[in-house]
Amino acid sequence: MKYQAPKGVKEYLPPASAQFERVREALLAPARLANYQLMELAIFEETEVFTRGVGESTDVVSKEMYTFTDRADRSLTLRPEGTAGVMRAVIESGMDRGQLPVKVFYNGPFFRAERPQAGRYRQFYQVGIEAIGSEDPLVDVEVISIATQGFAALGLRGYKLVINSLGDSESRNAYRLELSKFLSTLALDDVTRERARINPLRILDDKRPEMISALAKAPNILDSLNPQSREDFSKVQKGLDALGIAYEIDPRLVRGLDYYTKTTFEFVHPQLGAQSGIGGGGRYDGLMEALGGQPLSGIGFGIGIDRVILACQAEGIDISEQMPLSCFIIPLAQEWELESFRIGAELRSAGLRIDFAFGDRSLKGAMKAADKAGAQFTFVLGERESQSGSVELKELATGQVQSVRLADLAAVLGNAARQLKGN
Ligand code: HAM
Repeated sequence: MKYQAPKGVKEYLPPASAQFERVREALLAPARLANYQLMELAIFEETEVFTRGVGESTDVVSKEMYTFTDRADRSLTLRPEGTAGVMRAVIESGMDRGQLPVKVFYNGPFFRAERPQAGRYRQFYQVGIEAIGSEDPLVDVEVISIATQGFAALGLRGYKLVINSLGDSESRNAYRLELSKFLSTLALDDVTRERARINPLRILDDKRPEMISALAKAPNILDSLNPQSREDFSKVQKGLDALGIAYEIDPRLVRGLDYYTKTTFEFVHPQLGAQSGIGGGGRYDGLMEALGGQPLSGIGFGIGIDRVILACQAEGIDISEQMPLSCFIIPLAQEWELESFRIGAELRSAGLRIDFAFGDRSLKGAMKAADKAGAQFTFVLGERESQSGSVELKELATGQVQSVRLADLAAVLGNAARQLKGN
């Protein structure tokens, strides 16, 4: 019996996992610099957190949740997204009663029972941030700029940022009425009509060609914005302009989750084909209240690590291992193992990546292992080296050998590693 990972589950094994780490860290670093703090959250929640939070008209809730009952007959769901869980945790911990805005980031696996294809998985990975408790549109700008900084750090250029405003609840309600009126003039199938009843905005997200043409004459949401919502949206645009962040406005952008109000945005990478959304987010005014908390507004994004990796590959960006294996240490015989191991530990403390020939191998076998491990250098440690206090350091790519004192090893290896990284 040979077991396989469940269908649609994306895993990252070496060496590809180094790319995963690199992308995740690049996306997280700007959030830390903007004073967002880590939240490590429940991977499963009470199902209601998502049905109430994300909304029953969404595909995510109506079709894609992994829901199960536990031994005490509680209904639990593997998290399909991060925002509702963050909100639950903020309310539960009382963080919303402290300093505002609460600024947090998270990353990890998320689960949606979608039909797997390139860039769409049932277990996928997001980096996300949320800023809760400030209505200032400059927070919207901060959130968007954290995403663009992460993309820039990776060298990603081929994406575009699309923004829209769904307006505050007054504007959104006015638009819902307008849109419902328009939708009632269309011949919709039963499922679509039911969705329109729960949330008419959801229909704007319908990607079927016949729906896209039927919606061509739908009213424009930006026409329904009241003066406050209009002003807020304009401040967001001015902020993006001030930071030199390019964007397009698309009044049809409603996104796939029900909690959005005011600013919504999406990062689209056209080279990725059907699954081109590398990240997206927006403001949510009613979410905290819907989950039993105070009526605080928040905004955040979720970026798909899997898709950002694909985007980097599509653009030919090298996101491979950044810190190569510096040295592979080979004890000449068993009696030199501990001494070799001690030197290795010291070099690791100096921040170098070091591996070691474990087990009583032949010198030839150990040399081969050093080569296979992709080490920059290797050396053998035996009686001669120990007594002289210096080793013959061999550069594997060139075969060049230099004599290096043990005391100088960390400096020599460190310089070489830095040079390699600079290339
Ligand atoms: P979302 O647009 O549903 O938003 O997901 C965010 C990103 O996760 C997508 O742009 C995409 O890159 C990635 N993603 C989603 N589903 C899959 C999948 N099946 N396979 C691979 N990647 C996927 C949210 O999740 C919101 N919580 C974002 C947010 C935070 N809004 C406000 N705060």
